[in-house]
Amino acid sequence: MCCMLMREMRGKLILIEGLDRTGKTTQVDALAERLRGCGLKVVAAKFPNRESEIGQLINRYLTNRDFQLPDQAVHLLFSANRWEYIEELKRQLNDGYCVVLDRYVFSGVAYSAAKGTPGMDLQWCLQPDKGLLKPDLTLFLTNEDSESIANRAGFGEERYEDSDFQLKVKQKFHEAFDAYCQEGELRTVNVTGKGIEQVSAEIWDVIEPLLHETRATNEFKYF
Ligand code: TMP
Repeated sequence: MCCMLMREMRGKLILIEGLDRTGKTTQVDALAERLRGCGLKVVAAKFPNRESEIGQLINRYLTNRDFQLPDQAVHLLFSANRWEYIEELKRQLNDGYCVVLDRYVFSGVAYSAAKGTPGMDLQWCLQPDKGLLKPDLTLFLTNEDSESIANRAGFGEERYEDSDFQLKVKQKFHEAFDAYCQEGELRTVNVTGKGIEQVSAEIWDVIEPLLHETRATNEFKYF
């Protein structure tokens, strides 16, 4: 009932972004299930993809603080990890799959720019991702304070899970959205104090109208 119009067009590219431990992966899975329930073909993909060889290096960097790499090199690895998937992503969308991404270019820009490394401003950070696909809609899961992130289970296990750093990342996310999102391409969902079901319902309220959009959307948009 909800999605008949989408079948004639390429699938939508939906991105869920957010700070660490804001429940992105849970919400990506829930959204994918709900879209499937509408009869859509759906793929969910997570970045970094830790399965590929590049992804394994990234995983080593994130989980082992003794593994040192220059910030520029790490940034390029994350970008390369997205480029590994580009042809498959285009094929999936052209085949009518709705693709739900768990992190993408905005995470790449925000986390690297938040390090404050000389020369690594937003523009520098976006450069290697230029030419990747721009999502039809980005949902940003955010919270009002760093404590609500720090209290989440597992926080602190990986390299970037530090409250002060997360606040810098949050700021950079906003700068990146201001710089690279056009009107209507971004929606923010505040997850503070909300349960999984409530956040899912708020996300669905944003996504459902997108499924009824009649505008031709076969053209890809690029960063
Ligand atoms: P995850 O916890 O969603 O698997 O993400 C792993 C970490 O990698 C998280 O702290 C965000 C960070 N990250 C980057 O620094 N650059 C990127 O391009 C991406 C996709 C993630």
